[in-house]
Amino acid sequence: MSKNISNLSGRIGLKDNLFKQISENTLSDAPKDINEIAKKHNLGVSTLHGAESFYEFLRPSHREKKAFVCNGSACMCSGTQDKLKDTLKEKLGDDKVGEMFCLGHCYENNAFHYDGENYAGKDIEKIDQIINGEDIIQDKFFSKSYATTSFLMDDKLSSPEQFKEQLNKFLKTDKQKIIKSLLDSNLTGRGGAGFPTGMKWDFCSKAKGDKKYVICNADEGDSGAFSDRYLLEDQPLKVIFGMVLCGMVIGSDEGVLYIRGEYPKSIEAINGSINELKKLNLLGDNILGTDFSFDLGICIGQGAYICGEETALIASIEGRRAEVDVRPPFPVTEGLYKKPTVVNNVETLAAAIGILINGPEKFAAIGNKKSAGTKLVCLDSFFNNPGVYEIDMGTPMKKIFNEIGGGYKEPIKAFQIGGPLGGVVPLSEIDNLNLDFQEFTAKGFMLGHASVVSIPKDFSMSEYIHHLFEFSAEESCGKCFPGRLGSYRGKEMFDQVKNKTAKIPLKLLNELLVTMQKGCLCALCGAIPTPIMNILKYFGDEMKNDMVKDN
Ligand SMILES: Cc1cc2nc3c(=O)[nH]c(=O)nc-3n(C[C@H](O)[C@H](O)[C@H](O)COP(=O)(O)O)c2cc1C
Repeated sequence: MSKNISNLSGRIGLKDNLFKQISENTLSDAPKDINEIAKKHNLGVSTLHGAESFYEFLRPSHREKKAFVCNGSACMCSGTQDKLKDTLKEKLGDDKVGEMFCLGHCYENNAFHYDGENYAGKDIEKIDQIINGEDIIQDKFFSKSYATTSFLMDDKLSSPEQFKEQLNKFLKTDKQKIIKSLLDSNLTGRGGAGFPTGMKWDFCSKAKGDKKYVICNADEGDSGAFSDRYLLEDQPLKVIFGMVLCGMVIGSDEGVLYIRGEYPKSIEAINGSINELKKLNLLGDNILGTDFSFDLGICIGQGAYICGEETALIASIEGRRAEVDVRPPFPVTEGLYKKPTVVNNVETLAAAIGILINGPEKFAAIGNKKSAGTKLVCLDSFFNNPGVYEIDMGTPMKKIFNEIGGGYKEPIKAFQIGGPLGGVVPLSEIDNLNLDFQEFTAKGFMLGHASVVSIPKDFSMSEYIHHLFEFSAEESCGKCFPGRLGSYRGKEMFDQVKNKTAKIPLKLLNELLVTMQKGCLCALCGAIPTPIMNILKYFGDEMKNDMVKDN
């Protein structure tokens, strides 16, 4: 059934994309009859309703709100959000303020969304001006490269002239040489799964297909992370160049950036760059007079974390419910509209270009074979120097936190590193870790996107676990049984602790966590047990009053 939907949606493809039509129609002040869109795609109207009802932003309960307070982990730990919510309710009305999961302002908190824009830090003090529609000057994230060689933050691809110069060079470069450079660099995907990028491009270049696609996964939903946002807004040409070059290597003439709707400035920046490049014939048909054509568009996410998972992301673009699909087949052979597709993370694409410009040997010389090159690391507002930093793989975490981050503003007991699915690392373990994917995994954590959420000393760990279960219950795609039900059962257990109506049966909780770990279809509900198990292991003493031993 889903194959049929993919194929029918693919007949029209990206140009008049079904998901975009469903979203725009639902959000429009004068929506047209959804039957018209269904008919155009030869699909049943229930399929379209099924897709529409999947997304938070398209629900009537969301659309009737005016402002949304960030409920991501960093804003929650900072304790700024209750007061912020009260202020917004006072101005806009009690029923006009909702929530959004992580707006990527973890370095300053106090984050909220109003009328299509994000605000944070001290912006709330100017709420009257904001409501009056005035533009206010906002603080930007602090960014700096501490890397031996900068691959991600340099200015070697920051103007259309540089884009043209580099494109002229690479259009004449042998495709196999580009793949070899990526393989030699040891670049692995920065989106979480860590698959070698050169291998992914090679597989897709060899896959048979009359049409192929390049997808940039810009659905960065991990709280604590704003590194993809940094690249989309400050280095958009690097990200786009990565997609163009990937298209050339694999034999694709079309790509799409799936950018989360929670990042309006990123959408604006990428849109601006695409339009500028199209005018200069650096995108579109017969680029620079060659026979290579590559067109690029944007799909705007509608508030579903699971769309970061590549098969759910593909389903979303196709206008299906964004449910995870079983792999294999992998997207490189059967991806968007069932055509061979490369799905790469924003940072991976930017790093690929940094490598090709600066030389693969320089990237490979940093870190080790499995954790090579440089990585963006995001430090939240509990650090004295919050911001996004480019750092050599292999750097001691102690150095990153104490020297680059400048230590902490207040006592911290743990960090959640790598988003909601990443591990919770107690402060004492930081001394024993380096910035290294395998090292983190070996110690029972996960480096993931290398985003850091600090958990202050007086923050309750039971409340943190409640937050994690609540997140997976809200964001699970609902397709697999252990994920859908397990997350809710876990949330209910910790609801009872919060309301002081019952204690946690420890054996039952452990059984639930193992069932989710082993039985879930994807790493959303399958990896959420990791941080919870870390907390139980390292903070068991703190939690013992919330637990009962069951047999
Ligand atoms: C629940 C879940 C959420 C994910 N979210 C993202 C995301 O926001 N961005 C991303 O690039 N990859 C995300 N991934 C990983 C993607 O599925 C995929 O591995 C990645 O986009 C591949 O690109 P890469 O090879 O460049 O890392 C997520 C995976 C899971 C299981």
